[in-house]
Amino acid sequence: MPTPDFLSALLRPELAELHAYTPIAGHFPVRLDANESPPLLSAEARAALARAAVPEDWGRYPDARLVELREAIAARCGVEPDEVLAGVGSDEVISILLTALSRPRPGADAASIVTTSPTFVMYKLSARARGMRAVEVPLDAGWDLDVAGLVRAVEFARPSVVFIASPNNPTGALASADRIEAVIAAASDALVIVDEAYIDFAPRDQLALVRKHPNVAVLRTLSKIGLASLRVGWLVGDRALVAELDKVRQPYNLPVPSQRAATFALRELGGELRRAAAFITEERERLARGLTELGLSVAPSHANFLWVGTRRPAGEVFEALAARGVLVRSFHGAGGRLAHRLRITVGLREENDRLLAEIAACA
Ligand SMILES: Cc1ncc(COP(=O)(O)O)c(C=O)c1O
Repeated sequence: MPTPDFLSALLRPELAELHAYTPIAGHFPVRLDANESPPLLSAEARAALARAAVPEDWGRYPDARLVELREAIAARCGVEPDEVLAGVGSDEVISILLTALSRPRPGADAASIVTTSPTFVMYKLSARARGMRAVEVPLDAGWDLDVAGLVRAVEFARPSVVFIASPNNPTGALASADRIEAVIAAASDALVIVDEAYIDFAPRDQLALVRKHPNVAVLRTLSKIGLASLRVGWLVGDRALVAELDKVRQPYNLPVPSQRAATFALRELGGELRRAAAFITEERERLARGLTELGLSVAPSHANFLWVGTRRPAGEVFEALAARGVLVRSFHGAGGRLAHRLRITVGLREENDRLLAEIAACA
């Protein structure tokens, strides 16, 4: 659709390189493309969530300060409520961060972020939508942080924010602890965000970095552990940072059902959510073994998905699987070493079996 001239003259030029997010449409009996959790909650938990979600008064705005939700998050993370900023998914927290921090750092000619490649696309998209530069440093051959490259990028770009997803999407790798420390040390004048969206599937978390370094904050979400419908994510960081970000947050950002159901889940469903994460972690290893037995290379994963090397071009395998009713995620458009990689979300046992049967015929 052509953009009218008057509009082109008003739009940020960076929008020309962006696309609206459009998930693949169509009916796929097995969807292993979005890193959601398969339905693992018990009928009792689902009924209790539905009861908890109902507003007391449909005519009233939600709690603008998210008091109960932030208390429940703080209790879960072992921090204080004023160290928590909650948003409509961690996506919203990322955009709040970049709105607040879109000013060039002293000595920099433009505001920028530094992140890795490949990684979660919203860091770059959110930065570009605000006119910020995005400098991407390729991960090393083992999909870990390239410290020398990141240090050079930090020195050269003088970024306002450095984003490290750990475990990373789409590679599943948890960044080495010493490498994250080295990046934080090099970026001591920037804010370093450690995105722990997949931490529930990992053997260790990185929350202690927030206490150790005043310039580090951690992102988390309920989306990967079975509650993506609620769109609840948060940042844990220094209370001075949270207070500034809170000025940018829309006052009623999280609807009542999301606030209430998320608060209930955090307070009452911890055991069930942990069991679901343990199931996914076990299934991930079973799926990895199955794919390895088929001769495919599978990177070690600490997330709820696998990063799988294909013999045939990934785009062809993606199409063949989709034609067989199994949707996974391909990044072949990026080319290079991504041209032979697929990201496959761990599903229910029967979904994973179906994936194994279908991929055996086409990878
Ligand atoms: C690394 C990472 N961070 C954040 C998100 C966004 O999660 P949310 O649903 O909380 O917006 C995702 C979603 O895929 C992700 O992979």
